[in-house]
Amino acid sequence: MENDESVLRRKLEMVCGVPLFWSIVEEWAQVESFQARPDDLLISTYPKSGTTWFSEIVDMIYNNGDAEKCKRDAIYVRVPFMELIIPGISNGVAQLAKMPSPRLVKTHLPVQLLPDSFWENNCKMIYVARNAKDVAVSFYHFDLMNKLHPDPGTWEQYIEKYMAGRVAYGSWYDHVKGWWEKRKDHPILYLFYEDMKEDPKREIRKVMHFLGKDLKEEVLDRIVYHTSFEMMKENPTTNYKMIPKDVMDQSISPFMRKGIAGDWKNHFTVAQNETFNEDYERKMAGTNLQFRTEI
Ligand code: A3P
Repeated sequence: MENDESVLRRKLEMVCGVPLFWSIVEEWAQVESFQARPDDLLISTYPKSGTTWFSEIVDMIYNNGDAEKCKRDAIYVRVPFMELIIPGISNGVAQLAKMPSPRLVKTHLPVQLLPDSFWENNCKMIYVARNAKDVAVSFYHFDLMNKLHPDPGTWEQYIEKYMAGRVAYGSWYDHVKGWWEKRKDHPILYLFYEDMKEDPKREIRKVMHFLGKDLKEEVLDRIVYHTSFEMMKENPTTNYKMIPKDVMDQSISPFMRKGIAGDWKNHFTVAQNETFNEDYERKMAGTNLQFRTEI
């Protein structure tokens, strides 16, 4: 890695009003000209919405429920993070260019920043959304340990920044609404973290149908088992423990932290909840997109 201080904990920079990791912005021309292929499957999320979980599920479906095949490499090698370009550490665009088809591609970009080639190639996409409050809590803990993002400060300070969209990838509200609208004219399967928690087999079946696959019941059961929180927490290819401690310090907060719906209740004060709800009503007015904050 290059000199840590020049790479880590730097302030976010902007692309079209969306705050992003500084070197993604510096290398934006590479991201913008990314060459999608027609058989790419894009997995898109706002950060901390279950990206790793759904990525593992899709890789398991692609490999007909063979858990050993899915342990061939870390999740971020099997499902590269397209726009992530970190000097001396990673370049998702270059990584994907070398990858044979069919590729699984991860992104956190808001819909308006997705490279054109995905639309031109009519790529299938899965969007996973998670309720705003649990994302805020998960993102706060992630930013405490993930040195790629600025220091989150106190929870009190963070929740303000999050509501204002002054965090990596910008506004949660704009992100979930933008992708929700886009699904009207593009093959996007829009799924919810809370639904997967409630009934994983039902949701995995939706993914399977969307991918045009037909897996036996026993294979579906194996996928449910292998992708449970407990299994993924212990799995070195999914728990991010292969990432060096100076980038992600899991002694501060583990990547596989709690994996539940409703943890926000342990963090929001009554006053914070009221302020958040009022602001939420304003920002989500006019959309029929509904979230569950507990199951
Ligand atoms: P918490 O911090 O609330 O525990 P992403 O992969 O988008 O970064 O999302 C990370 C969040 O998804 C974390 O949430 C993590 O624990 C949760 N997660 C990862 N794998 C999971 C699984 N198999 N079941 C439930 N939640 C999972």
